[in-house]
Amino acid sequence: MSAQPDTAVEVDGLSKNYGPVAALSSVSFSIESGQYFVLLGPSGGGKTTLLRLIGGFIRPSRGRVLLHGRDVGDEPPNRRPTSMVFQSYALFPHMSVERNVAYGLKLRKMAAPEIGRRVARMLELVGLAGYEARMPHELSGGQQQRVQLARSLVLESDILLLDEPLASLDAKLRKDMCLELKHIQEKVGITFIHVTHNQEEAMTIADRIAIIADGRLVEEGTARDVYERPRRRFTAEFIGDNNLLHGTVSAIAAEPGGRVKVDLGYAEVAVDATVAEGTDVAAGDAVSLSVRSELVELVAPGGAEDGARQTVPATYLEEVYLGLTTSHLVRLPDGSEVAVRRISEGGDAAPPAPGQEVRIGWKTPSARLHVE
Ligand SMILES: Nc1ncnc2c1ncn2[C@@H]1O[C@H](COP(=O)(O)OP(=O)(O)O)[C@@H](O)[C@H]1O
Ligand SMILES: [Mg+2]
Repeated sequence: MSAQPDTAVEVDGLSKNYGPVAALSSVSFSIESGQYFVLLGPSGGGKTTLLRLIGGFIRPSRGRVLLHGRDVGDEPPNRRPTSMVFQSYALFPHMSVERNVAYGLKLRKMAAPEIGRRVARMLELVGLAGYEARMPHELSGGQQQRVQLARSLVLESDILLLDEPLASLDAKLRKDMCLELKHIQEKVGITFIHVTHNQEEAMTIADRIAIIADGRLVEEGTARDVYERPRRRFTAEFIGDNNLLHGTVSAIAAEPGGRVKVDLGYAEVAVDATVAEGTDVAAGDAVSLSVRSELVELVAPGGAEDGARQTVPATYLEEVYLGLTTSHLVRLPDGSEVAVRRISEGGDAAPPAPGQEVRIGWKTPSARLHVE
């Protein structure tokens, strides 16, 4: 008999209203034990509210939170198997690193030698062995963040809640700490739920990502799922650099796995029906297609039209050099702009002249169909 993976967190129809404001509306998902789970979305979307509901800092208006299968109902934070790492450093400024980390265990009246052992182990884990006697103001931002992490981990809760833990770090440090957080999570093996509005951070760190916006769960999946196969238009717009093309469904393939035809007004393109999985479309429906900028290309004149690739006419606008990549901007006949992105290679052939008529194209499976 294979062991069933334990569900660490299940939220079921969770809603939270603040007076007339629906901060969270009927959110449901579950998290397997030992996962690094990220709540990603724009500011004001309800991520902190969701995290605080899981931790028991606020009570839901509707719905339930189950931790390891147990409905935690009205249990206060200290009765739950959760521990919270807050957005600001929030270290005690007058206490050494060691005392900051030991604080929660002292509150639990643990014996001093055991506290000493656990604190030493945690400081080692977060890379701060030797910093025991330092005061918070003698630490860098990244180091303070590690103390904060050690202070939560030492409590040995099995679900760690982290609200924008890297938000106050500069970009370079955030990148380093991001990988480090993931390695620490792998070592301790407990469930992490990490809130961020930063896409790159989410992709670096997450086993699974839930996109939260406007108080709702937009979609959930691995980093690869939400980047390469966004089901919702919101996800396509929020993650990566997607081009959106708007049109109307003109024909639907009868055979399973066939193609949906979309009339863009100036061209008709085909989309793989498998791509449209879960989106129930009918002829006449307004739809949009998303195609990532790195999957669109400028098509050489006279290139073969073979059904494996969709092409549409465009007017070349300009080249934008971004370092790693170069973006070629074109305008479609309906006025919308599309970016064609390529790795910058020194000594590239000259781009088309601004105003030149060109064609752009993409491999048929590269386009996603969205109903919203
Ligand atoms: N204590 C509160 N009182 C009133 N409104 C709140 C409170 N907390 C959050 N909100 C509102 O709920 C919505 C979601 O907020 P929040 O969960 O903090 O979003 P996020 O963490 O994704 O930025 C926002 O519109 C916010 O203004
Ligand atoms: Mg927040």
